[in-house]
Amino acid sequence: MSTENSADKYDLVRKDIIKVFPEEEYDDGSFAPVVLRLAWHASGTYDHKHKDGGSDGATMRHNTEASDPANAGLDVARNVLEPIKQKHPWISYADLWTLGGCVAIEHMGGPHIEWTGGRRDKHSDADCPPVGRLPDAALGKDHVLAVFVNRMGFTVQETVALIGAHTVGRCHRDRSGFDGPWTVTPTRFSNQFFKQLLAQTWVERKWDGPRQFEDVETQELMMLPTDIALLDEPFRKYVDIYAQDKQKFFDDFSSAFLKLIELGVAKRGKL
Ligand code: HEM
Repeated sequence: MSTENSADKYDLVRKDIIKVFPEEEYDDGSFAPVVLRLAWHASGTYDHKHKDGGSDGATMRHNTEASDPANAGLDVARNVLEPIKQKHPWISYADLWTLGGCVAIEHMGGPHIEWTGGRRDKHSDADCPPVGRLPDAALGKDHVLAVFVNRMGFTVQETVALIGAHTVGRCHRDRSGFDGPWTVTPTRFSNQFFKQLLAQTWVERKWDGPRQFEDVETQELMMLPTDIALLDEPFRKYVDIYAQDKQKFFDDFSSAFLKLIELGVAKRGKL
């Protein structure tokens, strides 16, 4: 297959992915945020010391990983992408899910990610990485550093940039237990998350759910404990930069996200 034809093939998949995003009845009218979260959770299991986990394999198809409570609700994203897999059976799930995340980001107005294909699916439940690697939103700074810097091998700057993806989407009571969106534009990828984090006064929400924060002014926006942790060093300086400079956020997010979806992916020629 020539390079040109491969690119064309992926282009057809990109177009079909975009077509499944709009859905008036769902959340804020788009499946793009949950598809982005699927790409992140498929990749975010990588352990750079053990050299296992990561997007290669699409192991979330199997029960052990699919039933990890951290992945609750991601069946929505997997199901939305399934007809595209049926239409283009040559693409691996691992490529489809990561490409889906990239297309979602760009579709919502975010940066282009230099995605390349070549991931292969693994076919047994025994291939799943250990459950419990994904971050716990109820925890704080040390946990965020342990997961992103120590386990996955990101810098602090990349960590902050990646969590800026919370500019889109929302939390669901019946999935994570948390509730609400981070911004008033949950289907628009921008640096609003950082702007709101700094601009609003955040107080603990008084409710019967897990500890989360709400903005004093409207009480309609939310932050997770791990998001609030970004207000302190070593994260804070990057929050300040990204709140002021959307282009810098886009540039840094785009390279950090590419690194995320490539973690543990076997080296292959550029397609
Ligand atoms: C400390 C790190 C992180 C924690 C603790 C965390 C936690 C969460 C939680 C609890 C939710 C709500 C899930 C639900 O109820 O549906 C969520 C949603 C989301 N997260 Fe994160 N997350 C983290 C990092 C990231 C990263 C690195 C990305 C992508 C690069 C990301 C992208 C998203 C998106 C797009 C949603 C919205 C999904 C939707 O609307 O259905 N998150 N996250």
